[in-house]
Amino acid sequence: MASLTFSTLPTSTTIKKPLFSKTSSHLNQSHRFKVSCNAAANNDDKTVKNSETPKLILPFEMQNVDRRNVLLGLGVGGLYGAANLTTNIPSAFGIPITAPDNISDCVTASSNLRNSADAVRGLACCPPVLSTDKPKDYVLPTNPVTRIRPAAQRATSDYVAKYQQAIQAMKDLPDDHPHSWKQQGKIHCAYCNGGYSQGQTGHPELQLQIHNSWLFFPFHRWYLYFYEKILGKLINDPSFAIPFWNWDNPTGMVLPGMFEDNGRNNPLFDPFRDATHLPPTIFDIEYAGKDTGASCIDQIGINLPSMYRQMITNASDTTSFFGGEFVAGDDPLNKQFNVAGSIEAGVHTAAHRWVGNPRMANGEDMGNFYSAGYDPLFYVHHANVDRMWKIWKDVDRKGHKDPTAGDWLNASYVFYDENENLVRVYNRDCVDVRKMGYDYERSEIPWIRSRPTAHAKGANVAAKSVGIVQKVEDVIFPLKLNKIVKVLVKRPATNRTKEDKEKENELLFVNGIQFDGERFVKFNVFVNDVDDGVETTAASSEFAGSFAQLPHNHGDKMLMRSGVAFGITELLEDIEAEGDESILVTLVPKTGCDELTISEITIKLVPVV
Ligand code: C2O
Repeated sequence: MASLTFSTLPTSTTIKKPLFSKTSSHLNQSHRFKVSCNAAANNDDKTVKNSETPKLILPFEMQNVDRRNVLLGLGVGGLYGAANLTTNIPSAFGIPITAPDNISDCVTASSNLRNSADAVRGLACCPPVLSTDKPKDYVLPTNPVTRIRPAAQRATSDYVAKYQQAIQAMKDLPDDHPHSWKQQGKIHCAYCNGGYSQGQTGHPELQLQIHNSWLFFPFHRWYLYFYEKILGKLINDPSFAIPFWNWDNPTGMVLPGMFEDNGRNNPLFDPFRDATHLPPTIFDIEYAGKDTGASCIDQIGINLPSMYRQMITNASDTTSFFGGEFVAGDDPLNKQFNVAGSIEAGVHTAAHRWVGNPRMANGEDMGNFYSAGYDPLFYVHHANVDRMWKIWKDVDRKGHKDPTAGDWLNASYVFYDENENLVRVYNRDCVDVRKMGYDYERSEIPWIRSRPTAHAKGANVAAKSVGIVQKVEDVIFPLKLNKIVKVLVKRPATNRTKEDKEKENELLFVNGIQFDGERFVKFNVFVNDVDDGVETTAASSEFAGSFAQLPHNHGDKMLMRSGVAFGITELLEDIEAEGDESILVTLVPKTGCDELTISEITIKLVPVV
């Protein structure tokens, strides 16, 4: 590991042609990347050995990317201003979310999980109470040994042996030890399934929830931080770093081999996983609960533009990437718009479902929030989610900034550190991974050049639908999504100039989504699509994105409300619809949508800040 470099994007400037001009030949993905797959996506042979992972050959090196070209070529970014979103995301002038000083206030997670009787991991998620002292504010060590997290698919056998040793040591601890595998797994359940309330900030009736909002990235970053330091302590190696599951790169798009059953009690193996999703099956970044049967090469050709969409098109500002505000007094059950960021709702949720075992009552382990932390792969999946946060900031664009609101900076959580001290940590201290003493091994990000392409460019789809498809102003809301829904939605402006686009982002909002929080829910959204998403995949520009939710239990109520926004500035350029007054929006339910309703579909221009 001597030759590791730290930067995510190269900064030198040997660029031959603009990376993101409309005329450059980004795609077709499958031709462009010439990935060689030596096995079909769905291999029926369940006895695949670690050594038989597919050989994915990337014959090109990513060209060096000039940051300025990235900046100029990607279109415009922007930050939601509260004033512009009064009907979409409530602005918050509150008290930051604060986990309780007194962890003995933790209660057993709500028991009305859809199949709580079969909750094999149990709902008693509270941490052990070692003392009655208040947690101390955590201070990041100065000059820490830098821990370099390796890409799982490239980890050496020595590294894997060490990692296995650390996890085994964690599993060998008594269950009530704060560092035990069980207690580490419980942390996720406690922070997601109602273990803690907002009592310390005056709202004992409200649960504390770290998903579906801007708390998602920082909470999980701190969670992994202590988990990693605990593992390092257990093997006496402060430089130990957990690996990352590099699902955004074709060489890492299968379940990392080190997590498979090796017949020798591999501590990284978890029996509660989908046994049909072993290598060489390629992870489907758009997974909606069913295998699509796409070939390996086609799946990679979908995954890369899907990553582009989640990191660029639909992540052009802080709110789109981080998710909506969440402050003390907000009810995670009833808040009008719990908005998950593009990565949380996208590849993050998809991987949880793809890994969890669909035969288990609650999709254990990864497929449900209450149980996800018991699978060692959870932390490795989240390491790549965390890496996406770092990369997103490294892509030097105007809108790519951490939240600056005090309510975000001062939100805090409580963890046991590697010395078993109870500590309080703040979002403001986790914005820079180098200061936290870790970084990621460099791995190419081919998706940055995988801007989707139009499926049926210039088909005048919206114009042809007038008189056939209902206009959004004639629709009676709430609208049920138990079947495909199509509406014509008027745009606030047409033929926007380059300057217009630099000032404002055009976003398509689907708001007031009400659904059963106990189910895996997913629907896809298309713009000017000709075939209702039958042929049109995430590799096509017409695919605006999806809304997806992992099941989690919610006290006495099952209904959750949320919203989602999709950046359509680049999309309309790609499909040559910039002059159209209206667009045809198609909502295609994929899973869990029978009872789902929507209360608003609208397009707004949101200022770039
Ligand atoms: Cu806390 Cu992947 O979820």
